[in-house]
Amino acid sequence: MLELRHRDGQSRICRFKTRSNTVDTPTLLPVINPNLLLITPKEMVEEFGIQALITNSYIIKKNDDLRDRALKSGLHDLLDFDGTIMTDSGTFQSHIYGEVPLDPLEIIEFQKSIGSDIGTILDIFTEPEDKHDKASKDLDITLERAKMSVEAKGDMMIAGTIQGGVFKDLRERSAEESSKLDIDLFPIGGVVPLMEKQHYATLVDVVMSSKKHLDPGIPVHLFGCGHPLIFSLAALMGCDLFDSAAYAKFANKGRMMFPDGTRFLEELETLPCECPICSSHSVQELKDAPDKEKLLARHNLHASFAEIRRVRQAIVEGHLWEFTETRCRNHPSLMEALRRFAKYQDTLEKYEPLSRDLAFLHNSSLSYQRPTVSRFKKRVVQRYEQPDKPIYVIFPESNKPYSRTHVDNIKNSIAQGDVHFWVDSYFGPVPIELDEAYPLAQSMTPDRLEGTILKEKNDLLKELSEDYFKGQGIYWEGQETLDNIGFLSSEPGSFDLDMLRIRAVADLQFGKDSADILFKGEVTLKKSRKTGKIRNVMADGDHILSMRAGDGFFTLKPAGAKLLHKALPSPKLRVIVDKETAVFNQDGLNVFAKFVIDADPELIPGDEVLVVDTDDKLVACGRTSMIRDELISFKAGIGIKVRDGIKSD
Ligand code: GUN
Ligand code: ZN
Repeated sequence: MLELRHRDGQSRICRFKTRSNTVDTPTLLPVINPNLLLITPKEMVEEFGIQALITNSYIIKKNDDLRDRALKSGLHDLLDFDGTIMTDSGTFQSHIYGEVPLDPLEIIEFQKSIGSDIGTILDIFTEPEDKHDKASKDLDITLERAKMSVEAKGDMMIAGTIQGGVFKDLRERSAEESSKLDIDLFPIGGVVPLMEKQHYATLVDVVMSSKKHLDPGIPVHLFGCGHPLIFSLAALMGCDLFDSAAYAKFANKGRMMFPDGTRFLEELETLPCECPICSSHSVQELKDAPDKEKLLARHNLHASFAEIRRVRQAIVEGHLWEFTETRCRNHPSLMEALRRFAKYQDTLEKYEPLSRDLAFLHNSSLSYQRPTVSRFKKRVVQRYEQPDKPIYVIFPESNKPYSRTHVDNIKNSIAQGDVHFWVDSYFGPVPIELDEAYPLAQSMTPDRLEGTILKEKNDLLKELSEDYFKGQGIYWEGQETLDNIGFLSSEPGSFDLDMLRIRAVADLQFGKDSADILFKGEVTLKKSRKTGKIRNVMADGDHILSMRAGDGFFTLKPAGAKLLHKALPSPKLRVIVDKETAVFNQDGLNVFAKFVIDADPELIPGDEVLVVDTDDKLVACGRTSMIRDELISFKAGIGIKVRDGIKSD
């Protein structure tokens, strides 16, 4: 059972239990060749703290000595490792050597009998060049074998490989059908040739179309992904596990892996690495070392696990996209892959959190394609309600927060006429009162933008000027604009920044018309004495919302939750739980994902939610870390952090 611990978009830090131990993801399973223990599992535990490894049951079965020992005393004994052992089935050997004489059920039984924690089905390896017809027929066989293997799995966990070649429809079918089975881990297979040929953009299509239909509560393994250069991209796409024989294969050829690529030891002038091997050897010592191959293999594993740790930290910090951009810059085909990834905008926006702790950083022209940008642009147009004003002024991008930068310009404009204010921001045209909300205030973007971004930005402004903005638009040009406003108006206007702000944020966060629902009564504000920022919002004396200083969005108080609950039809903002567990949430306990029956399909991570029972009785309000599909699928961990239980009046 997978437990979600941290997430950033589709990327995630999870934990799952096997018979042997607990595995923290994302992680790398080193491939152990039982014939060739270059670094023993025991050494790997001591040096890298590995929790899991992968080995090949077909190789063990084929070798009389290994088979007998494995059958007699078990795989964990054979490898002298008591962590999680995943076994592969022999499929990969068929990719390399052609047909292998194996029966799909026999190899499952064998994996069970040697005590594998996670056994793999004997899937059919679809090559990238295979035609649709063949790929489809082979997928039918793989799915049939998955079904048989699940029935035979006993208490071994089963890995059901996703195949389908380079065809999105087949990958989707593979994922959809496999998700209906009692499979414990989904490896995405048939991708080694794509990685070897550096066809990373196709790899993105394959992974994204597989992920789209996979049950989110099951770990995903990218078969054969062993180079640290692509760990971040794979994690960004939501892969949890990788496996690597590369550390040993590369070492055998005198090659060293680095997060930015691979180098031959012989060609190195110095060792550009801080791992224990490179720190304790000069480049010449390494070249001359009698156990060079093992030293290089250890370096390669250090490089790999260090990258895994960086990826994990980037997920926790909400910086994995920026991190991946820097990695992908090392190879044009990786940049192409990231560009391809960004095209999955609909999926990415679904998982994009409401806000992040750290600022949005513009790193390259690709940053502009991020779901942070695209969803914000969409939400402003779809959810924001423009005040009824005859004129609107558009300020150019400026220092933030915009309303402070333009405080005098606003005052002077209002003295001339009834005006509203927008900013021509990096994130598209934004009403000025949203200037404290994520990502506007929490972003670092360059003063000068690339031509393509500038064009996209200007096109959007033009499009909105034609059929969205209410009133007459004037682009800010200082005194000339003030004169213009005066010329067009007969009397001064009004501008209540605080009221505009709470309305705009409410609509953006909870959906169109939420402001009307929340701010019906007499609205009063409590502000921070130190920063002047809005803290609490009261309606008719009831504390309904608090505004967070960090991201400029609201946390929902019980009185506010009641207003939204009464006015919005189910399932809007709802997370629906069983009556039996609802009473615990009413007492303020968190909602465990396994108790969720259904939820609003539009929820995004970080949203404020209304926890209700099956009769739509409001029992609590809190914040979700998961989207609907995840809330329904996950069977471990907290789905909603409850802030307040709500007892009926
Ligand atoms: N190892 C690398 N690729 C694959 C694959 O597609 N299937 C299996 N079973 N193992 C693999
Ligand atoms: Zn090193």
